[in-house]
Amino acid sequence: MSLMRLVYASRSRLVEGHRAEELQRIVTSAERLNARNRITGFLLATPGAFAQVLEGAQIDVAETYGRIVTDLRHANIRLLVEQPIVARGFGQWSMGLAERDETTAFIFGLYGVTPENDLIEQPVDTLLELAGELARGRA
Ligand SMILES: Cc1cc2nc3c(=O)[nH]c(=O)nc-3n(C[C@H](O)[C@H](O)[C@H](O)COP(=O)(O)O)c2cc1C
Repeated sequence: MSLMRLVYASRSRLVEGHRAEELQRIVTSAERLNARNRITGFLLATPGAFAQVLEGAQIDVAETYGRIVTDLRHANIRLLVEQPIVARGFGQWSMGLAERDETTAFIFGLYGVTPENDLIEQPVDTLLELAGELARGRA
């Protein structure tokens, strides 16, 4: 079985005021679906954007991404990379989540993610490193 990693970034369409609940709803359903599809990964969220890492068998990653692309809670999805990997980097997360808020803004900032230079502007390596650091901080 070939293990793949897919990373995309998108603009968030979650509305101010309901963002926290909506984000929780997305992650709860992602965890349930991903556990069933042997997908692991991590979701980065800011008020304006998402970036997500998906890992799993090629067919499962493709099916999951197909579902994500049609979700109207985000827009302008850009597929950044889909590549084979030898091992999962987020194996303990059916879908980890880190949101940029008062406590995490510092770490996002260390990787250059600011309101002016959001997730959607970042190179894939930066997104992977940021997700990795935030995942380690939460493990
Ligand atoms: C930012 C974002 C991340 C998502 N991540 C996943 C995911 O990791 N796995 C998945 O299967 N669906 C993911 N989705 C898609 C939705 O969770 C899913 O299509 C939707 O919740 C429908 O399922 P439900 O109605 O059963 O909750 C994501 C959607 C958005 C907007």
